[in-house]
Amino acid sequence: MLLIRRLTLMANSAATTALSWRCSPPTSFISTPTELTYLKSLSLHPKLPYLSLCSTSHSQTPLEDVSDSIPQQSSKRGPITPGLYLVATPIGNLEDITLRALRVLKSANVILSEDTRHSGKLLQYYSIKTPLLSYHKFNESQREQTVLKRLKQGEIVALISDAGTPGISDPGMELAKLCVDESIPVVPIPGPSAFVAALSASGLATDEFTFVGFLPKHAGSRKERLMLSANEMKTQIFYVPPHKLCQFLEETSSLFGTSRRCVIAREITKIHEEKIPSNQFWRGTLGEAKEAFSTHQPKGEITLLVEGKPICMVEPPSEDQLENDLRELISNGHNLSTAVKLVAEGTSVRRKTVYSLALRKFGKLGAEDDSN
Ligand SMILES: *[C@@H]1O[C@H](CO)[C@@H](O)[C@H](O)[C@H]1NC(C)=O
Ligand SMILES: *[C@@H]1O[C@H](CO)[C@@H](O)[C@H](O)[C@H]1NC(C)=O
Repeated sequence: MLLIRRLTLMANSAATTALSWRCSPPTSFISTPTELTYLKSLSLHPKLPYLSLCSTSHSQTPLEDVSDSIPQQSSKRGPITPGLYLVATPIGNLEDITLRALRVLKSANVILSEDTRHSGKLLQYYSIKTPLLSYHKFNESQREQTVLKRLKQGEIVALISDAGTPGISDPGMELAKLCVDESIPVVPIPGPSAFVAALSASGLATDEFTFVGFLPKHAGSRKERLMLSANEMKTQIFYVPPHKLCQFLEETSSLFGTSRRCVIAREITKIHEEKIPSNQFWRGTLGEAKEAFSTHQPKGEITLLVEGKPICMVEPPSEDQLENDLRELISNGHNLSTAVKLVAEGTSVRRKTVYSLALRKFGKLGAEDDSN
């Protein structure tokens, strides 16, 4: 309900933007700070009638005018050619969409969407009437052939996810692969991606990072993945569902150490009705985070960044640690050579060293021919 109200309010403000274009030539589709202030004051005073903002008779203009006001095709922009378009969509704030994305969505024959009801709101906001077809991880494989057929017939197919860039922790990868294999053009329409936005403002190192995304559900595989991350010197980036946050902080505090710094980002593009905008970026150590979030579960998906392992802390793990890691992997069903390989990669200890330790502790369990 609240969301719908906010959408309506934003829509009204966008209509205002559109109206001003009528009076003076458009300079940019991006809101000026004044318009953002409007949005803010509107959300704080939801009952404020929007008529007061636009005093002309145009104030009744329906929303269709928003997209009509997008500058018409100029000579620099050719027509949209057939192919698969991976279109990035807003991650909270509906204004975060490019002019090109809107043009592609308008021109497409069909828009594949993860959740047609959710995407419907975005399309309605921009008065895009292109038909939607549901395309999500549960029927991605059934849909592929239908979509491929349409693409081969020369249609323009746009793919969007609920939020952000399709194919990045969202459906799309398989279809992109398939199209590349079939020599069908695959065109990215860049835009928001939650992890890039969070990383850029995190205050952590951005020169090198690892995007991990969602962790495996299975406890053993999850721990294995986290062990690798714990030893990397690059910033590690995860997506965490809100109900998994406590578990995540428990596990990372013990594997990364409680003193490792982290940033918990959520709803970072939304215009907040909350008074403390700092809620969008929580900063502290993993230990502090574990404490802070043990009692309250935030809403919405979380981008969680953990600083890389500080160089001065890279001291060789003890034999006991190595042995524990090996035992854990073996009890998870790995053979000795795989366990040695994973531990060596995860700890940067030479494989030979780990291997001879493994032989001493666990015998020759199926590892005869793999000693380098
Ligand atoms: C895919 O799932 C959606 C929603 O669950 C459904 O409406 C659609 O018919 C499904 N398509 C296929 C091909 O299974
Ligand atoms: C150990 O497991 C890996 C992966 O499961 C496999 O590729 C490898 O051949 C195995 N090695 C031995 C010596 O059994």
